[in-house]
Amino acid sequence: MKSDEKAIGIFDSGLGGLTILKAVKKLMPKENIIYFGDTAHVPYGSKSKETVTEYSLNVAKFLESKKVKLILVACNTASALALPTLKRHIKVPVLGVITPGAACAVNTTKNKNIVVLATEATVKSKAYIKSIKRTDKSISVTQYACPLFVPIIEEGLALSDISRLAIKKYLTPLKGGKADTVILGCTHYPVIKNEIAEFLGKKIMLVDSAEEIAKRAKDLLERKRILKTKGKGKTQIYASDLPERFSRLALNIIGGKRLKVKESRFFI
Ligand code: DGL
Repeated sequence: MKSDEKAIGIFDSGLGGLTILKAVKKLMPKENIIYFGDTAHVPYGSKSKETVTEYSLNVAKFLESKKVKLILVACNTASALALPTLKRHIKVPVLGVITPGAACAVNTTKNKNIVVLATEATVKSKAYIKSIKRTDKSISVTQYACPLFVPIIEEGLALSDISRLAIKKYLTPLKGGKADTVILGCTHYPVIKNEIAEFLGKKIMLVDSAEEIAKRAKDLLERKRILKTKGKGKTQIYASDLPERFSRLALNIIGGKRLKVKESRFFI
C-alpha cells in the first residue's frame, strides 16, 4: 500500500475522540481513518498512570498492526499519562492533544487566567499547567476535575437534566472568577460544549484541541509528503466492547448515517 493511502489511527477510551475524528475529517476529507474506542476500559480518567499506559499501548499497537501512518491520541488522559511511552514503542509518529489544546488557550486568553476542566488523572498529572507554563510562565492556571461528565456522555445523557446538574455542580465555582478562557481538557467535553457555554456566559472563551490537532496532523503529513490528496476517505471504527451500543451512541456526536462498528477484544 502506498504511504499516503494508509489510514490515520485515532483512539480514545470511548466516544470522546469522535470530536477529534470530526475535526480531522473536516480538514482532511480524503484521508482514510481507523478509529478505536476502548469501551471495555472506559473511563480512563479515574485510573492509574500504569493502567492507562498499558491500555493505550495495546490500542496503539493494534492501530500499528493495521499499518496506520500516524496515530492521534484523541484522549487527554492518555496524552497526559502515556505519550512518552507510546512514542518510545510505536514506530509511526504519535501526536497527543495536550500541547495543541494548551497552545490554543495561550493564544486565546487576554487576561492570562486559564481554567482547565479535565478528568481526575489529567488534573493530577498537571500536564496542561506544565505545557502552558513552558510557553508563558506568567499565566495563571486553575484546574477542576469533572469526573461525572464522561459517564454521563457515555450513557447518552449529554442533553439531560443530569448533565445540567453536573455542569452546575462542577462549574459554579468558576462563575465570577478571573478566568477568561476555559480549556475543555477531555475530548468528551465538547459534546456538552453548548451547555457549558450557556452556563458560563458569553465572556468566557471555551477551547478544545480538536481543530488544532487536526491542523498539526495535516502539517506533519504534508511535511512527510504522505497527505492523501485523491479519492474519498473511508472511516473504519472499532470498539473493544459492545460495538452496537457504540454505534448507536456515536450518532449523537457525529450525526449522519449509523456507522458499522467492528469489535476487537484482542487484549481483554
Ligand atoms: N476522553 C478522554 C480524555 O480526553 C478520556 C475520558 C475518560 O475515559 O475518562 O481524557
